[in-house]
Amino acid sequence: MDGQSNVGKSQYRDGPRISRYRVYLDDVNHYDLVKRGLDKLGLHLGLLTRQGILLQEDEGREREARVLALDVPRPRDSWQTVPGARLWEWATQATDLPILTVWPGVDVLGEPVHFDLAAAPHFLVGGTTGSGKSVCLHALLLSLLWRLGPKNLQLVLIDPKRVELAKYAGFPHLRGGQVFEGLGDTLEALADLIDEMEHRTLQLRQAGVANLAEGHKQGCGRAVGLAVPVPRGRGASGSTGPKGAGRQHPSGARYPAA
Ligand SMILES: Nc1ncnc2c1ncn2[C@@H]1O[C@H](COP(=O)(O)OP(=O)(O)OP(=O)(O)O)[C@@H](O)[C@H]1O
Ligand SMILES: [Mg+2]
Repeated sequence: MDGQSNVGKSQYRDGPRISRYRVYLDDVNHYDLVKRGLDKLGLHLGLLTRQGILLQEDEGREREARVLALDVPRPRDSWQTVPGARLWEWATQATDLPILTVWPGVDVLGEPVHFDLAAAPHFLVGGTTGSGKSVCLHALLLSLLWRLGPKNLQLVLIDPKRVELAKYAGFPHLRGGQVFEGLGDTLEALADLIDEMEHRTLQLRQAGVANLAEGHKQGCGRAVGLAVPVPRGRGASGSTGPKGAGRQHPSGARYPAA
């Protein structure tokens, strides 16, 4: 720092793109000093990325006000890849999780993140070019495909860009047997989905249950329908996967016989 703040000892932990430094201040009053000096610190460290240093609330701060955490972005050549094989492990080894649990990736410290897609039925993936939107979308799809066979999962894939989802064309989970690309086919697929939703709503109402999970317990509901990844925006995905058979993820991880 600048000498005045006299930051004491610190520990650090590497995530895929940042390192989190846990800093122990000599004096609690230096907290604001550190907060105000983050840009300066970034300059001192020669940070070239647009992302600056972020001050995080450290979990130890509740007990000890002199503790803080700093997320310092690292240079590109030190970024860690998150291999598809890890996604495979999370998805295939998970137990006692809702049927539509998905893993978009890891958090800034590299810990896997998951959530129940049923609790987020409209999910918008946004970000700057090259920030990982397509990779995130593939991770969501593979989370589902690696856990569920076509009897329990139907996908409606709509891909106006025609390149992003083409590699899923051979999967048996596709409702309508194809990735929809043209406007006419897409509208038909969406009308079909509305019919399916109305059909299921009726089934659930007749069974006196509020959602598909409860409906399954009572033996109603045929399959889990999932609508609808629609990639938009500029450029094709950076991922390069085999086309057609759809048995292998771009990462090299194998898709199991479902
Ligand atoms: N989870 C990840 N682990 C490692 N590398 C990643 C990860 N996510 C993205 N990347 C890297 O970032 C690159 C760009 O990611 P991606 O193509 O998903 O970005 P995008 O946001 O879809 O870009 P565009 O806006 O151009 O479509 C990938 O080719 C990959 O090298
Ligand atoms: Mg993309």
